[in-house]
Amino acid sequence: MAEMDVYPLNLKGSGASNDHKPLSAVVLISGGGSNLQALIDQIQQGQLDLNIQAVISNRPEVQGLTRARRAGIAALTIDHRGFFERADFENALAQAIDDCGAELIILAGFMRVLGADFVSRYPGRMINLHPSLLPKYPGLHTYRRALEAGDTEHGASIHFVTAQLDGGPIIAQARIPIQTTDDEQSLQQRLSPVEHHLLVAVVKYLAAGRLSCHNGHVCLDGNALCQPLELVNEQDLALSTPRSAVERGEL
Ligand code: GRF
Repeated sequence: MAEMDVYPLNLKGSGASNDHKPLSAVVLISGGGSNLQALIDQIQQGQLDLNIQAVISNRPEVQGLTRARRAGIAALTIDHRGFFERADFENALAQAIDDCGAELIILAGFMRVLGADFVSRYPGRMINLHPSLLPKYPGLHTYRRALEAGDTEHGASIHFVTAQLDGGPIIAQARIPIQTTDDEQSLQQRLSPVEHHLLVAVVKYLAAGRLSCHNGHVCLDGNALCQPLELVNEQDLALSTPRSAVERGEL
């Protein structure tokens, strides 16, 4: 396979050499930043070898920016409403990301669609957390759509970002059952802590240099995965046995 199609992240984080440096990241948010907080907590507890260089929000004065500042992380706002063209907003965003020199870009509740030109700047270096079991329900209102479809489970996915909205190679997923009493709010509330665990688990693998994107496939330790990893408890990812459409509640 062509080497130019392999996008390994900085592997310095996995080495035992003296010049060990944690993987550097920038986190993009649009709101509360509870997922950002989950990463910060793990870093502060010495459980996650990640250096968050900056947090960037496209909305001013959101709680996630306060969370970043409280942790001593640079917190920037690049308000999309201040730009006439989307390309101008994305150029400003790219400039800020590149100024940080961050290796990994984490979209954690970042609610803007990013264009192909922007995405192509960061192949295999940008991940997105999405509240559905992709490829089901890309886009918005995923809880409502799962409930309206009568699904028996819902969940969250983390994928490498490509130009296709919520359509890049899926790294890992976490599932929760849908209860007959669930509404959008209860489903969201129950999924939220699961998303935090999923994001932390995936970023730990990335920080250890174990995940890469290769020819559009997710690779773990250099081997292409034929299905996404699953969050099997509050911290571990594993390959699960493929489930039939009946087991997935689709038939
Ligand atoms: C999460 O539910 C994520 O799946 C979605 O936006 C939400 C962000 O929450 N994309 P927070 O800002 O991290 O609290």
